Amino acid sequence: MAAGSAKVSLTGIKPTGEPHLGNYIGAIRPALKLAQNYEAVYFIADYHALTTIRDPELLRHYTRSVAASWIASGLDPDQVVFYRQSDVPEIFELTWIMACMTGKGLMNRAHAYKAARDRNQEAGKEDLDTGINMGLYNYPVLMAVDILIMEADVVPVGRDQMQHVEIAADIAGSFNHVYGKSYKFKIPDAIIPDADTGHTLPGVDGRKMSKSYDNTIPLFCPEAQLKKLVKRIPTDSTPVEDPKDPDSSNVFQILEQFATSDVAANVRQRLQAGGMGWGDLKNQLFEVLNDQLSPLRDRYNALMEPDSELDGLLAAGAEKARKRVLPVLSQARKAIGMA
Ligand code: ADP
Ligand code: TRP
Repeated sequence: MAAGSAKVSLTGIKPTGEPHLGNYIGAIRPALKLAQNYEAVYFIADYHALTTIRDPELLRHYTRSVAASWIASGLDPDQVVFYRQSDVPEIFELTWIMACMTGKGLMNRAHAYKAARDRNQEAGKEDLDTGINMGLYNYPVLMAVDILIMEADVVPVGRDQMQHVEIAADIAGSFNHVYGKSYKFKIPDAIIPDADTGHTLPGVDGRKMSKSYDNTIPLFCPEAQLKKLVKRIPTDSTPVEDPKDPDSSNVFQILEQFATSDVAANVRQRLQAGGMGWGDLKNQLFEVLNDQLSPLRDRYNALMEPDSELDGLLAAGAEKARKRVLPVLSQARKAIGMA
């Protein structure tokens, strides 16, 4: 989508693990679809990951893995502004400015901080702020700046992140209230791609696929591991010859998201008719996943090589991103009296 004409869709991806099938269905695929109608600005929120990841090698690995996954999944760095947050220092200068516009009470009410305090309470800790760093506390300010500095119109996020986008709108409102005559930030809207599709993928234990449950199928794991993980998805003990309800099967729910509609309809019919066993269904799922993912996996593996083009692509993305944010930061600085 050409720059300048379309509305801006922006989202950040926290590099806290290797992307899994659930991330692909719930975040990557819908964001790539949005990029067809919006000017897309997508970035790796590596400084957000620092609130939890303290192993430098791991942070480096997840950052490259997330970037390579998006590109292998079809993100075209020429069409999309795609960069690492840490490569855009202007974000951190504006973060201080916006922190000075943000009520502390607003941060006290942020869900992630409240949840961390609740966990301390449940654990019987006397000081409810035990183990909570200022990065976690200030997280919504940094996220607000990610959004505002790029003048985003819409922010596609999972439901858990909606409050953060509302906070971004609040913070922008506070700035605009004081300095609006000189400069106004655009007020962003959250959109939930999930709401269109409603698909939450189950993991290999039947709960929601999530790295927090350690039940994921990594998007680009090797073929043998993919087969092994698919076999692990729980099924009930309905005999092969009995009819089965596709919609209550975890295996079918995953298949339906990756198969063509013809293949999904055919499998649905065979399950309902009886005679198709769970083993057979799992073989089908493996075939469907592997057919779809193996060309992408090859691209992913090539990008993950130490001297691949990945770093150059990210550097070029950072240059584009910085060009966009400079005028915004300079107007904000002028508005507050720093220039
Ligand atoms: P995780 O639960 O593995 O930590 P995140 O919370 O980092 O995943 O989610 C990143 C994005 O992927 C969000 O947009 C979220 O809605 C989406 N997502 C995560 N898990 C799933 C799932 N099982 N099904 C559909 N979408 C998912
Ligand atoms: N907080 C988001 C998450 O945990 C990641 C993120 C950081 C983000 N900055 C953002 C998302 C800006 C949307 C817009 O998933």
